[in-house]
Amino acid sequence: MLKATLLKATQAGAKVLKEYFNGTFEISSKSTANDLVTEADKKAEAAILAAIREDYPDHYILSEETGEIYSDSTIKWIIDPIDGTVNFAHNIPLCCVSIGVEQDGEMILGAVYNPIINEFFFAQKGFGATLNDQKISVSKKTDMSKACLVTGFPYNWEEMPNDPMQVFERFVKQGLPVRRLGSAAIDLCWVAAGRFDGFWEHNLNSWDSAAGALIVQEAGGKVTDFEGKPYRSSQRKVLATNGHIHAELLNVINNG
Ligand code: IPD
Ligand code: CA
Ligand code: CA
Ligand code: CA
Repeated sequence: MLKATLLKATQAGAKVLKEYFNGTFEISSKSTANDLVTEADKKAEAAILAAIREDYPDHYILSEETGEIYSDSTIKWIIDPIDGTVNFAHNIPLCCVSIGVEQDGEMILGAVYNPIINEFFFAQKGFGATLNDQKISVSKKTDMSKACLVTGFPYNWEEMPNDPMQVFERFVKQGLPVRRLGSAAIDLCWVAAGRFDGFWEHNLNSWDSAAGALIVQEAGGKVTDFEGKPYRSSQRKVLATNGHIHAELLNVINNG
């Protein structure tokens, strides 16, 4: 069963993350000095892939450090072995394993587990979202001026429409509290749990958002791109909110 394999794989990755956290490990840079990968990312990924492969040797896999393992299966596993690697490398306990399962282009399962603070988020399409087995839902806030928001910035800065700094500045200049936790998967899950009212980021990869996006939707929230189109795991720009303030956030992102 897909769900059982997802839980097994998430636990296997989280076990590695927890063993290495706060210890000594190799760290190297990828595209820029602060785009990091650690020994734990690689070991966690290997444990996750082995757990999936044991049950489903033929499924399509997309995983951050390994890349794509192509197959013509309709099931695609989208894996971030450690989301929040920079936090992890600095012993900041905001990092997690994030695994989403997509079928025919639609997210059907998602798990995000931060074993350091023991928060396990899970969603199955049509069955709601949970945090440590308790149902969660997005906040009820309807007034953006009272919202608490969260965002993130890419490691690779490139010119892009809706410049991230300008968007950030617009929200901050409206006096809104905007946080930057350093893990897009946790940002999304914290929107799902009602801690934040909205999250946006400009340049995400599928593995950053896949599981978290389903968790937000199943908690009653809304996830789109910056044009308001429904979430697809391949989109780079992601806006996730409680639904009530979605249009207002879209407006600030696009029009100032
Ligand atoms: C990063 C985190 C971060 C986000 C970056 C991602 P990583 O993922 O999710 O919050 O701002 O865009 O690349 O590298 O820690 O897996
Ligand atoms: Ca990374
Ligand atoms: Ca990530
Ligand atoms: Ca990662």
